[in-house]
Amino acid sequence: MIRMVDLEALHGPIKAELDRAARAVMDHKHFVGGPEIEEFERAFAAFVGHRHCVAVNSGTAALILGILALDLPKGAKVATVANTFVATVEAILWAGCRVAWVDVDPRTGLMDPDSLAQVLAHEKVHLVLPVHLYGAPAPMPGIRELARQYGAEVAVDACQAHGTRVATADGLMPAGWGARWAAYSFSPSKNLGALGDGGAIVTDDDEIADRVRLLRHHGQRQRNLSLRPGFTERMDSLQAAWLLAKLPHLSSWNRRRRELALLYDRLLPEAVRLRHDLYGVSVFHLYPVRVKGRDAVKAGLSAQGIESDVYYPKPAYSVLPGRPPRLPATRQLLQGVLSLPLHPHLTEDDVQYVAGYLLEELAKA
Ligand SMILES: Cc1ncc(COP(=O)(O)O)c(C=O)c1O
Repeated sequence: MIRMVDLEALHGPIKAELDRAARAVMDHKHFVGGPEIEEFERAFAAFVGHRHCVAVNSGTAALILGILALDLPKGAKVATVANTFVATVEAILWAGCRVAWVDVDPRTGLMDPDSLAQVLAHEKVHLVLPVHLYGAPAPMPGIRELARQYGAEVAVDACQAHGTRVATADGLMPAGWGARWAAYSFSPSKNLGALGDGGAIVTDDDEIADRVRLLRHHGQRQRNLSLRPGFTERMDSLQAAWLLAKLPHLSSWNRRRRELALLYDRLLPEAVRLRHDLYGVSVFHLYPVRVKGRDAVKAGLSAQGIESDVYYPKPAYSVLPGRPPRLPATRQLLQGVLSLPLHPHLTEDDVQYVAGYLLEELAKA
């Protein structure tokens, strides 16, 4: 079976490092707020190229606390895409805001600046929240410029983008470039995954870092002195210890994903491929293709022992009641999108096998 994710293959070679990391936490017993937290925050901030990292216990928590830290007015509108995991939208709602929907660019599946321009011209938006979906960079320079014109903040959902680079006039920049903060998820299947849930806000802004630190721990800097209402959204020491053990491998895992993705690119016709590097450098959390007769293709691949999955089977507005927004490019994309196996422990032969059977299925369709 060629799998979408292979945690056995990922963790097998580093099992001794993971065991050592867990043992250290068991020994010092600071299960909450142990030394691994700050150590991981320093290391991940350096990896992604920002000044601060505040570790929390999921990507969803990072998004909620990040939006709350912007202190937007109640009911403020946040512009985002429906081609994303539902958590992007849940976070907007739980932070007391409303959603302004932006369509995607069919070439990339990412936020379309032309659609954003229309939204900003027609409604007052306080925050623009693009998603670096599949690990591919959203068009940040265009988004930042539009947000500036209309006086909106920018933040980014980088939950699938550990190491993604954004192309700017000054060269390649970190995934959080042009944004007040970037939110990350370390759920187990991510390019950098914990052995459980985890997340982080990464930022160059001292104020945002400080507010998220307060929010993740009951508004407290000091025990029993709450400066604002907060949450229990800290990352566990154990997860930080495991993430610290895995982080030194992330660059080589990302490099390998890229080699394999570029091999898919060479083997597959242009009509099925999405443009992943149009606005920078992707880290290929996923390798999505666009196919006709998606369910039949998926079943055909499965019959050959090839897993595939749909990100996402439903637009993220499906969590909301009421009439769905008009997002023609998003709808069309979601009808045909299918992600092929891509992880650092696949072989070139695996990729050729998958691409070969995909071509056969496409010929049948
Ligand atoms: C784009 C996106 N946003 C948000 C999240 C939420 O992260 P978590 O599952 O860690 O809460 C995810 C994780 O799947 C994601 O892929």
